[in-house]
Amino acid sequence: MSTPTKTGNPPAGLADRGVVMRVMFGAWLQQALYVAAKLDVADALADGPRAAADLADAVGADPTALTRFLRGLGAVGVFDEPAPGVFALNGPAEYLRSDTVDTHKYIAILHGEEAYAACAEALHTARTGKPAFDKVYGTTYFDYLAENPGARSTFDQAMGRETAVPQVVAGCDFGDVGVVVDVGGGTGALLAAVLGDRNGLRGVLFDLPAAVAAATANVARLGLADRVEVVGGDAFEAFPPGGDVYSISRVLHDFDDEQVLTVLGNAHRAMRPGARLFVFDALLPDRPGFNPGRFADLGMLMVLGGRYRTQAELCGLVERAGLRVVAVRHAEGGDPRAESVIEATRD
Ligand SMILES: C[S@@+](CC[C@H](N)C(=O)[O-])C[C@H]1O[C@@H](n2cnc3c(N)ncnc32)[C@H](O)[C@@H]1O
Repeated sequence: MSTPTKTGNPPAGLADRGVVMRVMFGAWLQQALYVAAKLDVADALADGPRAAADLADAVGADPTALTRFLRGLGAVGVFDEPAPGVFALNGPAEYLRSDTVDTHKYIAILHGEEAYAACAEALHTARTGKPAFDKVYGTTYFDYLAENPGARSTFDQAMGRETAVPQVVAGCDFGDVGVVVDVGGGTGALLAAVLGDRNGLRGVLFDLPAAVAAATANVARLGLADRVEVVGGDAFEAFPPGGDVYSISRVLHDFDDEQVLTVLGNAHRAMRPGARLFVFDALLPDRPGFNPGRFADLGMLMVLGGRYRTQAELCGLVERAGLRVVAVRHAEGGDPRAESVIEATRD
């Protein structure tokens, strides 16, 4: 057993154990983050530090339990405790506020609910390669969302913020006239960014039927109802025809390679010669090591049976579908989770 040293530094063995313990208790920490996000704790601290009892009263929690959740998070650097029993926002906790530009609140809620419960069957995934989600819920993730509008709404809220459009979209040439078809378009954030004030461009937002109601409402809210047609359908069946440019943003990582080939094959069939396709996705590095994409990849494995890919892997699938890759661009700034774009054309 390790004992503290006289210098106060942790013994070498303890540092290693700390790494294992942090991962081992990670599920509980993730739930603590979920609790803080779901109860809007960060919003309740927006005007300054609050004592636990006052904070618990504001968010509808038990003061002792909330204190312990926040101290657990504080141990890994989320939330401060400037005086005993008084809690405050810090840099990481700011990401749990509702209305900041790059809030992670909604994604923390998404990951804390069904996706979290599914991970109890991680061993099933390890043994079979099949999604844990399907074993726990008896259906695939997107079918589950279709049958549970509340869960679909949580999903759309996590994905669909206008601010969450991939940074590289700004550097893509969608042209000034014609039709942009965004496949798996969610609630329309990408089309809104692309169409902007290019009045000659029209959009088709294509997504699963379960996504159509929220997409239609959001497209109207964005003032784009007369320029964007919302179409429900299945990218495994066919893409809407007639696009000059197709885009598919943060969708292919939801699928395994065979599924990606089916979807890209449908892109190829829908595209006329000369039409272009922009594939937006976060890419994994070629080498092992720290990258948050590795964590997200585990989620894809267990929840959807999908995967994140390296540039070579994703470009390889695009080419196998008969499309020609003409450019790959990466986001600036070194954010390892920022999306890249693969631009392809049909010859
Ligand atoms: C991770 S979200 C990405 C949403 C949005 N494109 C973005 O960049 O934030 C994946 C989207 O693909 C849609 N999707 C999943 N399977 C699909 C399918 N078979 N056909 C059409 N859309 C699908 C989902 O409904 C969801 O809106």
